[in-house]
Amino acid sequence: MHNLEKVYGSGETRVNALKNINFTVKRGDFMLIVGSSGSGKSTLLNMIGLLDKPTSGKIIIDGVDTTTLDDNHLSSFRNSKLGFIFQFSNLLVDLTVLENVTLPRNIQNTLEGAEIEAKVLLKTVGLESQFNKFANKVSGGQAQRVAITRALINKPAIVLADEPTGSLDSISAETTVQLLKSLNRKLNQTFIIVTHERPQFGEVDKIVTIKDGKLIEGELVGDTHIA
Ligand SMILES: Nc1ncnc2c1ncn2[C@@H]1O[C@H](COP(=O)(O)OP(=O)(O)OP(=O)(O)O)[C@@H](O)[C@H]1O
Ligand SMILES: [Mg+2]
Repeated sequence: MHNLEKVYGSGETRVNALKNINFTVKRGDFMLIVGSSGSGKSTLLNMIGLLDKPTSGKIIIDGVDTTTLDDNHLSSFRNSKLGFIFQFSNLLVDLTVLENVTLPRNIQNTLEGAEIEAKVLLKTVGLESQFNKFANKVSGGQAQRVAITRALINKPAIVLADEPTGSLDSISAETTVQLLKSLNRKLNQTFIIVTHERPQFGEVDKIVTIKDGKLIEGELVGDTHIA
């Protein structure tokens, strides 16, 4: 990220949500973005995920300056390189667990082989007995594991998650964190995670804190800065 700025609105409603953000993430890193409510975490994640465009600055992923891509190239770049996990699993309830996972491949017309890959991934997250259940018949924690599997089906280089444990009880949250960390080690994918639950994640490769739209490398505990 090079000198990222994001301004929402104008005049009296103008919000300078990100100010002069600079940082680098290495391939395979497990990184957390922390900070208080309204500090700009989701705004930053949406920029990294190419879901929204910065007002100025550059986002370079795998050597590509994504800010120069037109909308078509941007969406194909996003579909091939990035995977998303949100606070709520956002599964389609009319589809089975397996169909939810293969949905991104169905949309892209690359369904061939997807079912086998999806089954392998679903086994990894402990859902081998749930393939054919409808998505509204699984628990919240299981639904989040389905959503994680769906985010991984395209083998994205970067997995982005906004509060992935935010809607889970502490046991499901712990399982989800361990799962994200083991997938990160096994698949050498980069994980960038926004969280309010910093302690749940234990040791990680990198942490940045956002405060009033500005980035601080490391974390703040009270007023103390831990690099
Ligand atoms: N679409 C938008 N239009 C206008 N202002 C916005 C928009 N999205 C976010 N903001 C503002 O930008 C700032 C940062 O919001 P953001 O959602 O990034 O915070 P956050 O750190 O993710 O907060 P939380 O922890 O509560 O999810 C806030 O002041 C918010 O009101
Ligand atoms: Mg947010």
